[in-house]
Amino acid sequence: MKKLLAFLTLGFITIASLHAQDQKMNAFINALISKMTVDEKIGQLNLITPGSDIPTGSVVSTNVEKKIAEGNVGGLFGVIGTEKVKQAQDIAMQKSRLKIPLLFGSDVIHGHKTTFPIPLGISCSWDTALIRFGASVAANEATADGLNWAFSPMVDIARDPRWGRVSEGSGEDPFLGSAIASAMVKGYQGNSLADKNTLLACVKHFALYGAAEGGRDYNSVDMTKMKMYNEYLPPYKAAVDAGVATVMSSFNDVDGVPATGNKWLLTDLLRTQWGFKGMIVSDYTSLGEMVNHRQGNISEASIKAIKAGLDMDMVTEGYWGTLKKSLQEKMISITDIDRACRMVLEAKYKLGLFEDPYRYIDPTRAAKEVLSESNRVVARKIARESFVLLKHNNKTLPLKRATSIALVGPLANDKNNMLGTWAVSGDPQKSVPVMDGMKNVGGSSLNIRYAKGANITDDPNLARQANVFGLRVDIDKRSADEMLQEALSIARQSDVVVAVVGEASEMSGEAASRSDITLPASEQKLLQALYATGKPVVVVIMSGRPLVLTGSIEGAAAVLQTWHAGTEAGNAIADVLFGDVNPSGKLSMSFPYSVGQIPVYYSQKRTGRPIDPNNKFSTKYLDAPNEALFPFGYGLSYTNFVYSDLKLSSSSLSKSQSVDVEVILTNAGSLDGAEVVQLYVLDQVRSITPPEKELKGFQKLMLKAGESKTIKFTITESMLRFYNADLKHISEPGMFTVMVGGNSKDVLMKDVELK
Ligand code: NOJ
Repeated sequence: MKKLLAFLTLGFITIASLHAQDQKMNAFINALISKMTVDEKIGQLNLITPGSDIPTGSVVSTNVEKKIAEGNVGGLFGVIGTEKVKQAQDIAMQKSRLKIPLLFGSDVIHGHKTTFPIPLGISCSWDTALIRFGASVAANEATADGLNWAFSPMVDIARDPRWGRVSEGSGEDPFLGSAIASAMVKGYQGNSLADKNTLLACVKHFALYGAAEGGRDYNSVDMTKMKMYNEYLPPYKAAVDAGVATVMSSFNDVDGVPATGNKWLLTDLLRTQWGFKGMIVSDYTSLGEMVNHRQGNISEASIKAIKAGLDMDMVTEGYWGTLKKSLQEKMISITDIDRACRMVLEAKYKLGLFEDPYRYIDPTRAAKEVLSESNRVVARKIARESFVLLKHNNKTLPLKRATSIALVGPLANDKNNMLGTWAVSGDPQKSVPVMDGMKNVGGSSLNIRYAKGANITDDPNLARQANVFGLRVDIDKRSADEMLQEALSIARQSDVVVAVVGEASEMSGEAASRSDITLPASEQKLLQALYATGKPVVVVIMSGRPLVLTGSIEGAAAVLQTWHAGTEAGNAIADVLFGDVNPSGKLSMSFPYSVGQIPVYYSQKRTGRPIDPNNKFSTKYLDAPNEALFPFGYGLSYTNFVYSDLKLSSSSLSKSQSVDVEVILTNAGSLDGAEVVQLYVLDQVRSITPPEKELKGFQKLMLKAGESKTIKFTITESMLRFYNADLKHISEPGMFTVMVGGNSKDVLMKDVELK
């Protein structure tokens, strides 16, 4: 009782003090707004980029200094480094009438200057504690470099690997995606936004951007509300529940209305249903793009957007150019503008910018934190946790240090592609190529020979498009045959071949959709020739998406999927190849057998005519399996994990009574290793057709060679809920199948009844 009272009092004090803080903030902002002219208010809604660094669209702003001085800018992005940030903040603080500090945003997507693996890779670690820690390290480095707003996490569920931006998210599953979304927000924002080493997170792209038709970037999206609520919206909601400070609207339309001007999405769902209290920013020119979406002219688009609840306009300058006139014409009211302005000012207040506009501008911190040795250690750890061992024959791995190695492939001694897409602040030249990593980890006596063997692609058109941000595809002066012969010659002289192939970093990411996602022909030819030597070939694949590997890896002794692994790529890859670290990544996105199967994902529904090889009239292809080549949740280890004795504590559960699920996991191999134990559930009879299985829990744990452990999950009634046809979040009594395993396909099963 005493404890309860103490708890209640504590809770009361916390709530009371929060309330007091809010009141203080409101009073401050009310006073400030009362001093602002309409132009100054609209100025706060203007987020622009001077384009001094990599722009992500074709538009950059002009006369930036004048605009800041006149109070026409709320924030900047694409300004990197404390010196440049200070120059801009000085203008706001010294020349603008009200001296309102600027926000400084950036695409801190997978680390800042210390670049972590691409987010799709990070998600394959299934290690939410590590992911949260990684985000906090990125926030620490970015804030030391002058920034206070990260345009991350990107949580768009993606089931079409043709879409280049699958690289930026956490794959196909809402449960895993939600866990990661929440971890990242907490990592970026820490305990308080006012701390010097935390920043505003920005969940994006709200909403459904990952479901673009045909996997073509910026394309239209159309889906039922049921699918939205059950499968696509949960990660955004998880970010909101984790307290994300800002939300970015997406380029696509949602239910026929562009997200940036969609009142149902931005106000009814996000603010009213979900209780989001922060600031909403558009994506890059997405406000102006409403004109192309046939929503009228820029002034009509701006009216729609502000009325829909969009607060800040990124780059279009549509608010800045039109809202005052619309106000005079009574098309909008001053309360619309005040609301949006308040949201921007609140974000600044929470960061502590009104107390100290230079809070994030400390060159001594920058010198200490940016690309520090300890940040590199974190990048290396995250990288090796993100690798997925897709194939492994005959104990080819780990490599013995005494073996002679032929290191072959266009990505084997390359710095330009290690960081992957969306590394706007990273310097590729600071990254570690595989060749260096092999020497660092393998030791000075390592017997290793290198040959490029092939270009990433010989297609000049693809190469040109991949080279927009600098040289990524370096087409060699030598002929393809000359390169191949050199590679074959060193392969014949060595005990084992390590072939590093895949995509250049800009072959995925924004505006990098591909209709053919096989390995480029040049690399396929190289691999086939290497297999023909009879030497064991370990294929290391770097890519920003699941590739179609059918036909390319059958001859391989082992295949390690490393994504684009970041600054420490080479060291991390060598750590795993030499067995200093046992790979433990599991796919967060299925690898299709062929492009024609897309979308292929584990949680598909059963049809009325389930696949039956003996029945022509069942759901299947004439020329391909229905299943992925490598399913969601899949990933091998150098050791061997065995699942046994699945048990339930009861044959039923109810609203008040949960059921425990236990399984024995044994490391039956001879090496220590980590495994991700996955829990799936199928609702056997349901008012709306259910997915065949849905992830409901996972645990990553380390097991010594020979060790067994009992793994326990608890299933509660709330875990069995779904959004029904009326969008009510309910469970329906009946039978459920509980499944546990090391991937989404190979599982042990037991039935349980929900009473
Ligand atoms: C466009 C991208 O869609 C978005 O993810 C990014 O944050 C902005 N550009 C700013 O660079």
